[in-house]
Amino acid sequence: MDKFVIEGGERLQGTVRISGSKNAVLPLLAATILQKGEYRIDNVPRLKDVRTMTRLIALLGGATEWADEHSLKVDTRDLTNHMAPYEIVKEMRASVLVLGSLIGGLRRATVSYPGGCAIGERPIDLHLKGLSALGCDVRLREGYVDVTAKKLKGARIHFDKTTVGGTENVLMAAVVAKGETIIENAAREPEVVDLAHMLKRMGAKIEGEGTEIIKIKGVDQLIPCDYEVIPDRIETGTFLVACGITRGNIEIEGCVPSHIQPIIEKLREVGMDITENGSTIRASMSKKRPNAVDIRTAPYPGFPTDMQAQMMALMSTAKGASAITETIFENRMMHAAELRRMGADIRAVGNTAIVKGIKMLTGARVMATDLRASASLILAGLTAYGTTEVSRIYHIDRGYESIEEKLKGLGAKIERRKDEDLGS
Ligand code: UD1
Repeated sequence: MDKFVIEGGERLQGTVRISGSKNAVLPLLAATILQKGEYRIDNVPRLKDVRTMTRLIALLGGATEWADEHSLKVDTRDLTNHMAPYEIVKEMRASVLVLGSLIGGLRRATVSYPGGCAIGERPIDLHLKGLSALGCDVRLREGYVDVTAKKLKGARIHFDKTTVGGTENVLMAAVVAKGETIIENAAREPEVVDLAHMLKRMGAKIEGEGTEIIKIKGVDQLIPCDYEVIPDRIETGTFLVACGITRGNIEIEGCVPSHIQPIIEKLREVGMDITENGSTIRASMSKKRPNAVDIRTAPYPGFPTDMQAQMMALMSTAKGASAITETIFENRMMHAAELRRMGADIRAVGNTAIVKGIKMLTGARVMATDLRASASLILAGLTAYGTTEVSRIYHIDRGYESIEEKLKGLGAKIERRKDEDLGS
């Protein structure tokens, strides 16, 4: 196992380039299962989760090969297996995104039922409700959800809770269902829109992606395509916070500012100067201490839950007190306890954390509990006095491409080392 060793106190400066989006590429790769053929996906981030998804595609009978550093060729011509095993799903919950595409492509999906995870229970009842409405027979046996569809027929599906993965799964099955499907209270996240765009390039008929109502007219046949993944908005937000917390001055290239407006607006309240110019953002904290702001996570276009932990690190050093409320996941405050070990004054009551900013965090040995929590601990380490060691960083490798190299490029002192202290 690796750990990061960070010497805090360096102001970040320079330019960083954003990678392709993790949460977009996973459903896009799943979509290649819908229609047998050859695909090329560009701007694919080199992440552990991407490797897990390519392993899953291989187990299903497909093949993947890197054409260059960030372009992945996917060949699903021989894909005939419909079983996503426990070993893969337990590593990556997003494996459930093959449910919709296996049903659409093979009319059968047997997928290990995902368990809870570090941030909450995360059931898939809404995915299954949507697939049932499309005419699927859904059974649970021996830890697996077994879905078959003799015929897929369009339906009106109302999600009583906004679900990104549920919207994506239903979308993938509905594009080849007979007739019209209407998804009400659909997720509006840019990653859902990206999936809809790829499906449209494959010949699907979709309207309303990016709004609460998505209309789909099923087609008989799709065609394989080439596609480029959108930039990662959470990575972009994380680097913005890195700039804020170190009171730095950076330029972020290759991002989509419109995807991160809620983050930009919050960070302007915090006191950052942020200017947008096409796909580049300039951010500066000009040596100021951040203002305290309140944060409440919400589905897009609200403030993303995937940025909550990073903002908590930032608020730990703010001038004043802030209330951070998590509304999406019931157990997403684990980083609060680790940040406290660095001196942060955080009191978490239920899903709200009251963070009283202090002048300076101090370095400590801390443990990453999930992907975004790991990011928040690294951010805290960048500003803390002394040395911070973040262990269990395999979480970060799931979702941030070469984070230490990118941070070093901005002047941070961060090293990846072997963690001898296993399990302690
Ligand atoms: C996706 C993102 C994740 C992000 C989350 C919310 C990917 C791979 N992951 O996760 O990074 O934090 O969106 O923006 O894209 N729910 C149910 N029943 C369901 C499905 C969801 O109750 O069938 C609940 C969940 O437990 C959660 C909420 O709905 O409380 C939102 O979950 P959802 O949008 O589905 O998140 P994911 O797609 O799993």
